[in-house]
Amino acid sequence: MCGIVAYIGHRDAYPVVIKGLQRLEYRGYDSAGVALNCGEELNLYKKQGKVAELEAYAKDLDTSGNIGIGHTRWATHGEPNDVNAHPHPSGNGKFALVHNGIIENYAVIKEELVKRGHVFQSETDTEVLMHLIEDVMDKQKCNLFTAVRIALNEVVGAYAIVVISKDNKNELIAARKSSPLVIGIGKNEYFCASDATPIVEYTKNVVYLDDGEIAKINLQEGLKLKTIKNQEITPYVQELELKLEALEKGGYDHFMLKEIYEQPRSIHDCMRGRINLEDQLVSLGGILEYKDQIVNANRIIFVACGTSWHAGLVGEYLFEELARTPVEVEYASEFRYRNPVINEGDVVIAISQSGETADTLAAIELAKSKGALIVGICNVVGSSISRATHCGSYTHAGPEIGVASTKAFTAQVTVLTLMALMIGREKDTISNERFTRLLIDLHNIPDKVESVLKSDAKIQHIADIYKDAPNALYLGRGINFPVALEGALKLKEISYIHAEGYPAAEMKHGPIALIDEEMPTVVIATKDASYEKVVSNIQEVKARKGKVIAIVTKGDSVVSGIADHVVEIPKTDDLLVPLIATIPLQLLSYHIAVMRGCNVDQPRNLAKSVTVE
Ligand code: F6R
Repeated sequence: MCGIVAYIGHRDAYPVVIKGLQRLEYRGYDSAGVALNCGEELNLYKKQGKVAELEAYAKDLDTSGNIGIGHTRWATHGEPNDVNAHPHPSGNGKFALVHNGIIENYAVIKEELVKRGHVFQSETDTEVLMHLIEDVMDKQKCNLFTAVRIALNEVVGAYAIVVISKDNKNELIAARKSSPLVIGIGKNEYFCASDATPIVEYTKNVVYLDDGEIAKINLQEGLKLKTIKNQEITPYVQELELKLEALEKGGYDHFMLKEIYEQPRSIHDCMRGRINLEDQLVSLGGILEYKDQIVNANRIIFVACGTSWHAGLVGEYLFEELARTPVEVEYASEFRYRNPVINEGDVVIAISQSGETADTLAAIELAKSKGALIVGICNVVGSSISRATHCGSYTHAGPEIGVASTKAFTAQVTVLTLMALMIGREKDTISNERFTRLLIDLHNIPDKVESVLKSDAKIQHIADIYKDAPNALYLGRGINFPVALEGALKLKEISYIHAEGYPAAEMKHGPIALIDEEMPTVVIATKDASYEKVVSNIQEVKARKGKVIAIVTKGDSVVSGIADHVVEIPKTDDLLVPLIATIPLQLLSYHIAVMRGCNVDQPRNLAKSVTVE
């Protein structure tokens, strides 16, 4: 969380930095700030709130200069206010620093620095790092680059930082460990950012910093890379595939709505080149090298957080059913702090939209240290997780900007379906007929998603009825249980309505006590093996005067006779229902949140990529 941007070159730095911060605002929006070198001094402006508030504040101030750094914050140490906002200046006012991450040993360092006469303005760990750099510089009489490098050897934790100096208009210093940082290389200009979105409109040439690397970006000398242990490295310049249009709202009111509507396309893109209906083949190029190990895995462990964890739960049903491989699904944040048993032949699959989630990264490192093969399912190309894994498959959903994950989820489930099919085919655990049917049904999913989107007006009407409900229950069985969890998460995170997802049969073990005339229960009641049982669960809710919104298979007359509202979805293979049933739940939470006046794309307290544990 937190987004950082920096610019050095021939343009005015301020507009580049501000625009970049707007693109990164999904990473945190507690405060925003910039530091600009106007030639004589560092102008430092920071404000609690969004980038727009910073812009309003700086409107009549001096924002000149061709070198600048900026930050948008998701607060960790110290409440969100102007003082704790980044950039943080050094004690002598000559330097300023922006930081994404956490300096874990900041308290010990701060104590030492206070003894040495340093005075701090803020409560942040970042200001401590800035003072430490200044202290090293004073003690060792070295230049800024060396001071930053030495200081970083003393800190424990995660950081992506950029530092500028009042006395050097030609230089930026950037470094990273466990928080992302990309450097864009243009013609006599350079950009730094937490991801490539602020860079793509200026240049396609980028260098992703690796952990423990520090960059000196100098307009005369170019880009020089070292490790913080002082070893020189040759920068590896890559070409970005990202398209600028993908970062705009394209006429939709919110990114979330745009991303919901993009799903026919994103699911299609995710399958492109991976299924061959004629030859009855599924191929995933990114895991080819390790295919045998994955196919013959004794056990597969999914590690992920939030919505990606829900995708892992869907994956569990898919892998067990199609590939007959034993599966465990772990919250990365729990897995990393246990001493999990990992045996030879176990394969760990890490699922992450951003590819930057700190807990998932740590779970990967732990599993790697125990000898597991690590496979990644990521959306962001070149992200930390995609680079930390042995192999993997990208979801190709395109940039997801709304904080609530939508199209990334359906793309993750699509990749998991492809993997399960591939393994099942190799292991011969799926009959030819089922394989063919599934391949055809999967191929048709984008059209079916498109048809579900046509129910939007009806869903909006349902949203209007329940927008003021204080609580909601989501129920599903089998492979649709994770869909219920995902529906509940979507509602609570963007509308702030308390919502819980449950396996439908578990309702009678507790949640049933909550049901009364006020309580909406959303049930995934499609025609599958557990249909009759789900119908009974709906009856149980109705018997207690609860309100039922049911997602049903097209043509279902039984549930429509009992439920208060039904949303029909087209028939498909039972295993593929999550890809379709999720869509109405996304739309329902979207409309409820809009009607409640919530900030749909940037819900309170959340951030898109959670780079702290
Ligand atoms: C919910 C949501 C989060 C993320 C979670 C993991 O809508 O977006 O729950 O799914 O923070 O993020 P990634 O997938 O980037 O690792």
